[in-house]
Amino acid sequence: ETVSHDYKIADIGLADFGRKELDIAEQEMPGLMSIRKKYAASAPLKGVRVTGSLHMTIQTGVLIETLKDIGADVRWASCNIFSTQDHAAAAIAASGTPVFAWKGETLEEYWDCTLDALSFPDGKGGYLGPQLVVDDGGDVTLLIHKGYELENGDKWVETASESHEEQVIKNLLKRVHAERPGFWHTVVKDWKGVSEETTTGVHRLYQLAEAGKLLIPAINVNDSVTKSKFDNLYGCRESLADGLKRAMDVMLAGKLAVVCGYGDVGKGCAHSLRAYGARVVVTEIDPINALQAAMEGFEVNTVESTLGRGDIYVTTTGNKDVITLEHMQGMKDQAIVCNIGHFDNEIQVERLQKSGATKLNIKPQVDKYTFKDGRAIFLLAEGRLVNLGCATGHPSFVMSNSFSNQTLAQIDLWAHKDIYEPKVYILPKKLDEEVARLHLEKIGVKLTTLTAAQAKYLGVAVEGPYKPEHYRY
Ligand code: NAI
Repeated sequence: ETVSHDYKIADIGLADFGRKELDIAEQEMPGLMSIRKKYAASAPLKGVRVTGSLHMTIQTGVLIETLKDIGADVRWASCNIFSTQDHAAAAIAASGTPVFAWKGETLEEYWDCTLDALSFPDGKGGYLGPQLVVDDGGDVTLLIHKGYELENGDKWVETASESHEEQVIKNLLKRVHAERPGFWHTVVKDWKGVSEETTTGVHRLYQLAEAGKLLIPAINVNDSVTKSKFDNLYGCRESLADGLKRAMDVMLAGKLAVVCGYGDVGKGCAHSLRAYGARVVVTEIDPINALQAAMEGFEVNTVESTLGRGDIYVTTTGNKDVITLEHMQGMKDQAIVCNIGHFDNEIQVERLQKSGATKLNIKPQVDKYTFKDGRAIFLLAEGRLVNLGCATGHPSFVMSNSFSNQTLAQIDLWAHKDIYEPKVYILPKKLDEEVARLHLEKIGVKLTTLTAAQAKYLGVAVEGPYKPEHYRY
């Protein structure tokens, strides 16, 4: 097989279309484009093997080509079975980057793709692992840690993911163990770090670090201000409605929408639905977030209190079992149920499937479940993140902020590979401010400059950073 065929995608014939949309996206991603300009000559990731596991969209295509421009040797998979845009994958594959992703993978295919993305042919019939990982949700990090533990003879430790998926991962690892003895130790030896995109993946990293099991330095990209306070918030404020509309063409005005969770994602979702004219009920477990929602004028109540009146349910918690089978059975006829959090366990999909409700597929990623009493609900994207399963994820401009942080994190991990310890780091505030700065001109923002006297009065440098670490934005 030649290198140019080192990919698994839906249709290479979509490459031209993908390229045209990549060209449009570049114009909306000033942060990534200026990073390319700044670092192309010095190529700080020259020859570095980078594995990415992140929704294979057009915007991710611009990230991949940025990493390549600054020298990296990239292999990519999507981090969700439904989130790939096939024309984006095709354009990236056609340009010679190995990509393993298509829309509508099975879980078996998904984990095979993840393995393909972290298997760099060594030229002698074997494989090397990545030196750096770009993760979204932590699946590459999980696979390497699990593989390494099993190779060490450790017992399988149950994780939060659903049991069928655990079985799939176990089977894959058994196969690797048989076909590539010692592979995971080779991988871990060369692995210098991971930068993690999302709240849920970051949560997994801190858990690993606390258990003393984290094998490599990690950068928490999510908690850059220019990531979670933008992508999670303003991204979902646009892409949730996009997902609902493409899936159901539903009128949002006048409906009663229930948003579970009022963190960054929940805030974006609740405000978006209200802007369309929906009445929004928020559910929360944290009194601070609950109070925030109430102060914004939202009704804050329990899921139970909304049963029979809620038309649309959206989970945004990063938690499990937020919408139970019993909730769904108690919902108003024709209610729409979806999740925008990272994993599908926010909704009890497996229990729904085994409940005896009859399932009618309307179109890909839209299913109608009818209960014995005749009432029905619609489940979008099988409970997987609706904005990427039923639409195309966040727009380019906001992803430019997230992915600028990703690129700077990759450069930082490689530059400090001999210094960093297996801990979770956050990018310095100066870089966070820099990412924001790179996005001002495009939208016509004119900053005020501190005078020397003002800077002295505030106790900051004229060129920043402007806020103390504890400031919350
Ligand atoms: P967050 O931690 O800011 O917000 C989650 C909120 O849910 C918290 O306020 C928490 O108190 C609340 N919560 C937890 N359990 C609950 C329960 N049982 N009922 C009601 N509320 C509950 O997290 P963030 O950043 O908003 O992310 C949420 C999820 O969305 C994560 O899984 C994250 O990875 C994912 N995400 C998805 C994106 C997408 O494009 N689909 C974009 C960014 C993040």
